[in-house]
Amino acid sequence: MDDDDDDDIPQLSSHTLAALQEFYFEQQQREGMKTSQGFNQYSIGSIEEDWQLSQFWYSDETASCLANEAVVAAGKGGRIACVSAPSVYQKLKEQDGKDFSACILEYDKRFSVYGEEFIFYDYNHPLNLPENLLPHSFDIVIADPPYLSEECLQKTAETIKYLTKGKILLCTGAIMEEQAAKHLGVKICKFIPKHSRNLANEFRCYVNYASGLD
Ligand SMILES: C[S@@+](CC[C@H](N)C(=O)[O-])C[C@H]1O[C@@H](n2cnc3c(N)ncnc32)[C@H](O)[C@@H]1O
Repeated sequence: MDDDDDDDIPQLSSHTLAALQEFYFEQQQREGMKTSQGFNQYSIGSIEEDWQLSQFWYSDETASCLANEAVVAAGKGGRIACVSAPSVYQKLKEQDGKDFSACILEYDKRFSVYGEEFIFYDYNHPLNLPENLLPHSFDIVIADPPYLSEECLQKTAETIKYLTKGKILLCTGAIMEEQAAKHLGVKICKFIPKHSRNLANEFRCYVNYASGLD
C-alpha cells in the first residue's frame, strides 16, 4: 500500500475529538447513565454498603416512596438535598427528566462519580459546605444521619436547617423521636421505611409538613 493513502483518511483535531467525547458522555447521562454493559450507575447497590460507614441502603420500594415524596414536596422546578441518604438521590436520578434538581451530600467519596451534584459532607463539620451552597436554597432536605446519637442528630440538624427553605424529611431510628422533635420540630409518620437487609433497630420517618407519608 502506498504511504500516501494515509493522507486520504480524515483526521479529527484534538479539539473536535474532545468535543465529541463530551457529547457522547452527556448522551450517556441523558440515557440514564447506561454504560456499554447496560449497567445503570444510579441503581441502588451499584455502590455497595460499607458497614464501617454505617451504610444501610433502603429497599427499592422505600427509596421510591421517599423520592416521590420529595418530588411532590419540592414542587415544580424544586431543589432537593439528600443528606447522608444516597439511595434517595439515586432513585431521584433514575426518574431524571422530571422537573426538579437534586444534590447528594455524602461522606463516602465513592459517590463523587455523580459529578457536580456530589458535595462532600461530614456531619462533624455541619456548616463546612461549599460557598455556592446558599442558605435556604433547597425546597426540601431529606436526611438519614449515620448514627443514632443526639450529637450526630444535632449536628446534622444544623446542616438541614441551613439548607432548607422549610420542609424537612428525616429518617432515623424510632428511638430518636424526642430528639428529632427537639432539634428539628419534626413529627413521626405512619410510613415505615424498609431496608434491603433486616436491621435490629426500628426506623421511622419524621416530617415538619403535611406529607404523603401518613
Ligand atoms: C444510615 S445510612 C443512611 C443511608 C440511607 N438509608 C440510604 O439508603 O440512602 C448513613 C449515611 O451516612 C453516611 N455517613 C457516614 N459517615 C458520615 C459522616 N461522618 N458525615 C456524614 N455522613 C456520613 C454514610 O455513608 C451513609 O450513606
